[in-house]
Amino acid sequence: MLYFVYGLKQALRKEKEMSERAKNYEEKINTMLKRLTLEEKVSMIHGCGLFCTRAVERLGIPALIMSDGPMGVRQEFPDDSWIPYGYSDDYVTYSPSNSALAATWNPKRAYAGGKVLGEEARCRGKDVILAPGINIKRDPLCGRNFEYMSEDPYLIKTLTVPLIEGIQESDVAACVKHFAVNNQETDRLMVDTIVDERTLREIYLPGFQAAVRKAGSYSLMNAYNKLNGTHCSENKELLDHILREEWEYDGTVISDWGSVHSTEGAAKASMDVEMSVTFDFDNYYFANPLLEAVKKGEVAEAEVDKKVKNVLRMMYRLKMLGEEAPQRKKGAYNTCEHQRSVLETAREAIVLLKNEERVLPVSGARLTAGKKVAVIGVNASFTHAGGGGSAEIKALYEISPLMGLKKELGGNIDVRYALGYYIPGKKDVNEVNWQEASLERRIMGKENPDDEELRTLRKEIEANRMRLRAEAIAMAKDADEVIFVGGLNHDYDVEGRDRTDMKLPYGQDDLIEALLDVNPNTIIVIVAGSPVEMPWADRARALVWCYYSGMETGTALAEILLGEVNPSAKLPETFPASYFDTATYKNGQFGLENRVEYKEGIFVGYRYYEKEKIKPAFSFGYGLSYTSFSLTDLYAKRNTDVSWEALEPSVDVEVKVTNTGNMAGAEVIQCYVTDLECSVERPVKELAAYAKVFLQPGESRNIRLTLTKDAFDFYDVTKKEFVVEPGSFLIHVGNSSDNCLLETEVVL
Ligand code: BGC
Repeated sequence: MLYFVYGLKQALRKEKEMSERAKNYEEKINTMLKRLTLEEKVSMIHGCGLFCTRAVERLGIPALIMSDGPMGVRQEFPDDSWIPYGYSDDYVTYSPSNSALAATWNPKRAYAGGKVLGEEARCRGKDVILAPGINIKRDPLCGRNFEYMSEDPYLIKTLTVPLIEGIQESDVAACVKHFAVNNQETDRLMVDTIVDERTLREIYLPGFQAAVRKAGSYSLMNAYNKLNGTHCSENKELLDHILREEWEYDGTVISDWGSVHSTEGAAKASMDVEMSVTFDFDNYYFANPLLEAVKKGEVAEAEVDKKVKNVLRMMYRLKMLGEEAPQRKKGAYNTCEHQRSVLETAREAIVLLKNEERVLPVSGARLTAGKKVAVIGVNASFTHAGGGGSAEIKALYEISPLMGLKKELGGNIDVRYALGYYIPGKKDVNEVNWQEASLERRIMGKENPDDEELRTLRKEIEANRMRLRAEAIAMAKDADEVIFVGGLNHDYDVEGRDRTDMKLPYGQDDLIEALLDVNPNTIIVIVAGSPVEMPWADRARALVWCYYSGMETGTALAEILLGEVNPSAKLPETFPASYFDTATYKNGQFGLENRVEYKEGIFVGYRYYEKEKIKPAFSFGYGLSYTSFSLTDLYAKRNTDVSWEALEPSVDVEVKVTNTGNMAGAEVIQCYVTDLECSVERPVKELAAYAKVFLQPGESRNIRLTLTKDAFDFYDVTKKEFVVEPGSFLIHVGNSSDNCLLETEVVL
């Protein structure tokens, strides 16, 4: 069986099809434009509700209805309030977060995820779904990392394209966000990110470029931050030059909510629709102020026309207008099929990080009638769907790990539960909706540490902590199996705020050490959206990592712990042993206000750790299985029939993979490339292709990975283009970035 990773041919064909369809719309769009008054045009390009624009009923132009977000369709809000309606019909399928999706290393799961999201959005009457979020995970502390995929642009590209295709199949626009370089929450509205051109091109833009060029994303959301001195909402280099001219994007650019800072600036850049978090819709920059600016001649009406055309084009594509309208898909939500689909993704998203002495899976004689299983930790019974910021989900249901275990274990096993650690109540819950206050969140987290009230609270917290710890330890002592489920929650993995360190909160490290003292076979499960330091990792024999994996998280986790499903996920990001090992800690350029300079350049994630020879706790691409695999017979061949210029695949890499264990399972074959001679400094190696292969025990397959030009090129700042320098390249094949078992050389 041969695997081709998103062939360029296919992408080019699709582009052609899209541009032909677009040509047909253009005439109609121009006719319609002539019939619109300036007031009507302006009403189409700014929010007149929190998630909609205004319809032009006279001409049959509908309003544009949008909704968050990446993990499912968000609940309904009134047009002018952030207090949700509280309807009973807006519970939805809660899909795995993008970090979980990326851990599957499986484009088919990304496509399936897109299909669920698109169908649900359409069925809920949405035109635009504000997803996916694909910003690079530059620093482990970024509050929104859970919404993003990876530190690696290639992995992002290959998952983003099928995800968007899946969404848009339902006649719903994906809105890929946040364009661009939105990698921290601190001061996110104003911070100026300073990034050099090569870094921008090689690391921060490829995901967006693929979203536009290959997947044909109908819309895109600009980021809050500034990029190299100018807000992304009015950044002509980004929006006009790169996006519109170079990538020939003719879709709609929607502002992040409240990211526009001036009428003229944004109007003259290719930003089309202004959305925000406040209710003074007529005062939005693209409302009355824009009307006035046009009337005064400060902004040409032609600028407004361009924006309206982009909106109308998207409406035609979505079959909101025109003869195709009756064929617009109607969507589906909360179907069993969607629930099965998100379960399937969750099963492939949970990463087995350690499994010494085969502590996992817990099965066979260890689970005979009457055995006592102690499940410990708040995250075992906690549900996460409702948090995180705009990614919050009103889930139809969410199976917690405890419920999953109980479902799978049944009535003959004595499952006991203890909280184990204490999460103090939050004072500000429900005081004010977080999004309403989101523009002011810059001042959060600055409480006075000497506050008397705070001191008393701390004492209470400590007393509660000790009580729960003692209870859990006693339970663990008396149990046959101990499963700890802890980690983070959306107080930490959250929009609008970055973490301040990489430590597990609520005294969990201390509790884990104590549980390992009592039972060295304690299974440690961490549920979180971003890496944490695990000072006890050497002592833990069984360690499982579970990103927020959707409404079936608990089912999938239980199936894996009990051996009904063989884990096959791989880390889509490096887990450093300590925050002090990160490039951004060392250069001090993360989480600053006003200005952040990306001094590490292209050396993000494993590109940095490999360059500096820093051993992480768990490397990029790492993840274990209950079975074992061998990789043999590596072979790389320069495909001489075709030229680079034709943009055809050019190096075929073949490798044989065998399941050498006795359980069916999947391995992710990863191919990295090293440029051995180059005029500029390049990473030790970079991910160039991968394939996830499912194999029965004893089964072998020859896998072919096709490396295209972008596997070898770099951005040449003088020529202002990606170039491949002739010479030798090393091709590494393995099952994680730090376990490449085979190597071969090609000369180009
Ligand atoms: C977030 C976006 C989100 C928007 C609408 C903003 O705060 O940054 O990702 O789509 O709100 O809720």
